[in-house]
Amino acid sequence: MFHYMDGASEDEVTLTRSCGSFDDYELLPRYLTDVSEIDPSTTILGEPIDFPVLCSPTGMSRLFHHDGELAVSKAAARANTVYNLSTMGTYSIEDVAAECDGLKWFQIYVFKDRGLVTEFIERCKAAKYHAMCLTIDITAFGNRERDLRTGMTIPPKFSLAGWLDFALHPLWSLNYVANPPFSLSNVEHRVSGGSDDAVTTLVQYISGQFDRSVTWDDAAKMVQEWGGPFVIKGVMTVHDALKAVEIGASAIMVSTHGGRQLDHTPAPIDVLPDIAAAVGNKIEVILDGGIRRGTDVLKALALGANAVSIGRGYLFGLGAAGEAGVDRALGLLKEEIIRDMAILGCRTIDEINADYVRRRP
Ligand SMILES: Cc1cc2nc3c(=O)[nH]c(=O)nc-3n(C[C@H](O)[C@H](O)[C@H](O)COP(=O)(O)O)c2cc1C
Repeated sequence: MFHYMDGASEDEVTLTRSCGSFDDYELLPRYLTDVSEIDPSTTILGEPIDFPVLCSPTGMSRLFHHDGELAVSKAAARANTVYNLSTMGTYSIEDVAAECDGLKWFQIYVFKDRGLVTEFIERCKAAKYHAMCLTIDITAFGNRERDLRTGMTIPPKFSLAGWLDFALHPLWSLNYVANPPFSLSNVEHRVSGGSDDAVTTLVQYISGQFDRSVTWDDAAKMVQEWGGPFVIKGVMTVHDALKAVEIGASAIMVSTHGGRQLDHTPAPIDVLPDIAAAVGNKIEVILDGGIRRGTDVLKALALGANAVSIGRGYLFGLGAAGEAGVDRALGLLKEEIIRDMAILGCRTIDEINADYVRRRP
C-alpha cells in the first residue's frame, strides 16, 4: 500500500523533480516589518479558506485506512479547506456529503458513457458540491512499475507472496477485513455484487470508461452542463492553460498527477511562473505536486499560484493514524506556513509575491 501511495510512473523522474525542484528556488526575506499578526487565510473560487492548502483527489483511500475519504474530508472541513473527492473514491459522493460539512469538490473524467458524466453532475448538484474538477491527464493509465514489483492488486489480495507484509501490519489487516468491503462506491451500482471479483469487474468497468477521443469541446460541454465553478486538473503548458480560460473554467491545477502519469514531464513548480503570467487574473491557479513543506507553499504563492493542493502529504498522515493523522499533516503545514510567513516578512497571503523568491543562480 505504501508503494502504491508513494510511487509514480516508470523511472519516477517527474516525481523526484516535483519535490526536488523546490530546492532550486530561494526565499528572500525582508526584515524589520511588523509581523506581529499573521493571517494565512485566503479565498479559492470565491470561498474563504483558513490557509492556502487544498486536499487533492486521491482514489481508493480505503487502501491506506478503513475510514478513507471520510477521514480526509472531515479533517479538511475541520481545517476549513477544500476536499476534492475522486471519482475512484471508496466512499461515495453522498457518503462524503453526509459526513463533511466543509467545501467539497468532485473530481471527474470525461467517460465514454456520457450518461455517467451527467449522473455524476446531477448527484453533485443534489449533494451541494461546490465545484467540479476535470482531470485531463489520464488518456491511458500511467505505467507504475513499483506496483508490478510489489504485486499490488486492486482489491488487495491476501496472497502467499504478500503474507509477510500483512502479518507485519496486523492492525491494518484486521481493520481491512473487519470493516465494510472495499468498493468503488461512486460506480458500484453500475456493476452487480460485492465480492472481490465484483470489485475487479468494477475496476475493469471504470478503466474501460477512459475515452482517448476526448477533446476541449467535450470539456467545454461539461463546463456548461455543470454551470458552476469548474477546475481543470493536469494543465502543464501555457497552451492548455489558455484553452482552459477559453472554455470558461474558473481555475486550473498545474499538475502531473503527482508524477503518476507521463514520466519526464517537468516539475509543476518549474512551469508555474510562465503559466501564471500567461493567464493573469483570468483564472485561478493552483499548484499541485511535490508540496511537503510550508516553504514549498510560500514559493508556489510567490511564483504566481493562488493556492496549492496536496496528495501524498495528507495520505501519509491517513496511513499512519487515520483522521487524526490527516489533522496532524494539515496542522503541521499550517504551522510551518504561519512561522515561515513571519520570518519571510509577509503578514497576509496577498503580500507574498515575486519579490520574495528567486531562482537559485
Ligand atoms: C494514491 C494516489 C491516488 C491518486 N488518485 C487520483 C485520482 O483518483 N484522481 C486524480 O485526479 N488524481 C489522483 N492522484 C493525484 C493527486 O490528485 C495529486 O495530483 C498528486 O498527489 C499531487 O502530488 P503530491 O502527492 O506530491 O502532492 C492520486 C495521487 C495519489 C498519490
